[in-house]
Amino acid sequence: MEILKIHGGNILHGDISVSGSKNAALPQFAAALLTSEETILENVPDLSDIRFMGEILEHLGANIERVGKNTWRIIPTNLHPNAPYELVRKMRASICLLGPLVARLKKAKIPMPGGCVIGHRPIDLHLLALNEMGAQVSLNQGVVEVDGSSMKPTSIFIGGRHGSTVTGTANAIMASVLTPGTTLLDGAACEPEIVDLCTMLGKMGAQISGIGSHLLEITGVEKLHGCKHRVIPDRIEAATYIMAGAISRGSIRVHGMNPGHLGAFSKVMKESGVLLNPVADDIISVSTDPNGLKPFELITLPYPGFPTDLQAQACALACTIPGLSILTERVYPSRFMHVPELLRMGAEVSLEGASAIVKGGKVLNGAPVMASDLRASAALILAGLVSEGETWIHRIYHLDRGYELLDEKLKGLGADIERLPESSLPPAFRSPTD
Ligand code: EPZ
Repeated sequence: MEILKIHGGNILHGDISVSGSKNAALPQFAAALLTSEETILENVPDLSDIRFMGEILEHLGANIERVGKNTWRIIPTNLHPNAPYELVRKMRASICLLGPLVARLKKAKIPMPGGCVIGHRPIDLHLLALNEMGAQVSLNQGVVEVDGSSMKPTSIFIGGRHGSTVTGTANAIMASVLTPGTTLLDGAACEPEIVDLCTMLGKMGAQISGIGSHLLEITGVEKLHGCKHRVIPDRIEAATYIMAGAISRGSIRVHGMNPGHLGAFSKVMKESGVLLNPVADDIISVSTDPNGLKPFELITLPYPGFPTDLQAQACALACTIPGLSILTERVYPSRFMHVPELLRMGAEVSLEGASAIVKGGKVLNGAPVMASDLRASAALILAGLVSEGETWIHRIYHLDRGYELLDEKLKGLGADIERLPESSLPPAFRSPTD
């Protein structure tokens, strides 16, 4: 096990590059199963979740090869429909294998995904969509079994109580691209990752209209062919770097991003006094108002609303801004595992229902803290960057699931951050459960 040691106080300067999007690449690995021909995916981030997905595809019978650090080749000639429990339980995103397996093999057996620290993550909408498309869905000893032999075109509303579902939309699209006739998906997610999936499917020969809207029309085709696709930049990673520059009151440039994918995030940042200026189509400069940042309010919503995957990082930023900031979760109402750890660093945050009320402006103190999920890990790093003294972050395997070399990239901006073996922890900081 490794830990991160951060010595706070350095103001960040310089250039940082964004990798490909984890949440675009994962469903695209699944989409490659829709054809027996070769698919090449480029700009794939080098992450443990991606490697897990590669292992699952291999277990399903696909011939898969990592032909470059960020390039994968997938040739799914012989497939079987049974996803392995020991891999699926490690990564919820594997649920988006349901759609392509049902479309290609007319059958799928996927263990129910495990629990998740960010909150309740049901798959009822995924299964509802398949049911409405005529598939027989059953749950046997924790395994979702789907018989898609009688799939039919239909019109369904796929939104839920918390708005649209990203991987649920991905599954429904992939389940219908080979179903003869026209399927309408109303209430579909329109995240950039869904748009990118539809772009890839279009290259494979799928017929999808309404891309980027909440109403998708899919006309099934006989078969799909292979393609070469470059994964879009990771908007959550890009925004995390923007907040790293802002929290340290530094001046950085973020390269290889798509500013058009930031949605409400850039509005909240600008209102607070974070200055975002385009330098090129895929580069923005980040600095902060010399008069200081203003506290902000945000509500997480499906795209183009403020992304829930940026709420924890924004919470850390709010801790450094004098005044009251209010962060409300409408997607995962209990996604506040980062708060107890921020409190250990001297932050003043209270939780009221689905809102975190941050009384910012106190100097944070470095402390040993525990990462709980991917985005909470990033939040603790941001807080450590501006804390007095040293912050030690345990369980950083969460971080490596979704950020490619985050510590190395931040070091390139002047952060004093080191990845060390857990044995280097001061004895007083060794948690017995680690
Ligand atoms: C995707 O998860 C992302 N993961 C998550 O990112 C992200 O937080 C989430 O979308 C919301 O933007 C991937 O794309 C791999 P949802 P997903 O289905 O698809 C409810 C990260 O840190 N819901 O859009 O699983 C659900 O409880 C991860 O990179 C149902 O009620 O999320 C939630 O409240 C964390 N029934 C809301 O919808 C369902 O069947 C949005 O969930 C499905 C979802």
